[in-house]
Amino acid sequence: MLRKLDPEIDLPLSYHAGVLGISGLTAYAGLFEICKAKKGDKVFVSAACGSVGNLVGQYAKLSGCYVVGCAGSRDKVALLKEKLGFDDAFNYKEETDLNSALARHCAAAEHPCLIRTL
Ligand SMILES: NC(=O)c1ccc[n+]([C@@H]2O[C@H](COP(=O)([O-])OP(=O)(O)OC[C@H]3O[C@@H](n4cnc5c(N)ncnc54)[C@H](OP(=O)(O)O)[C@@H]3O)[C@@H](O)[C@H]2O)c1
Repeated sequence: MLRKLDPEIDLPLSYHAGVLGISGLTAYAGLFEICKAKKGDKVFVSAACGSVGNLVGQYAKLSGCYVVGCAGSRDKVALLKEKLGFDDAFNYKEETDLNSALARHCAAAEHPCLIRTL
């Protein structure tokens, strides 16, 4: 899909490949249109460091959700928790049982909303 950029938008060009591009739209539509996430929900994001997943998590945090992500390395888990504001995160490669990992990290979910971005 080709789209001409509006020269009046005074933002770095790279934003159009991420948050203002298809990744941002995908994350927005998945979280708000499909899952209808709202304040107080618990949101789990797989592939959370990916181009869509990191935005899903950040949108969810901005909306007042409790956000848990999983990723494939300790560095990525640290990034999710320390830079991107996820409430919790785990390395799925260090878990032997994904169901129990999810139960541990998302246990108290009253209104769970599962976002898979893999
Ligand atoms: N980007 C878009 O504009 C867009 C639009 C529509 C749909 N989508 C779809 O959304 C999904 C994610 O796209 P993306 O652009 O965010 O991808 P991405 O930036 O490439 O991220 C995908 C992540 O998936 C994880 N992964 C890879 N193999 C895995 C495995 N076996 N088990 C668990 N995790 C694994 C990797 O993270 P770890 O190293 O942490 O495992 C990787 O960083 C894809 O299915 C894509 O087709 C994307």
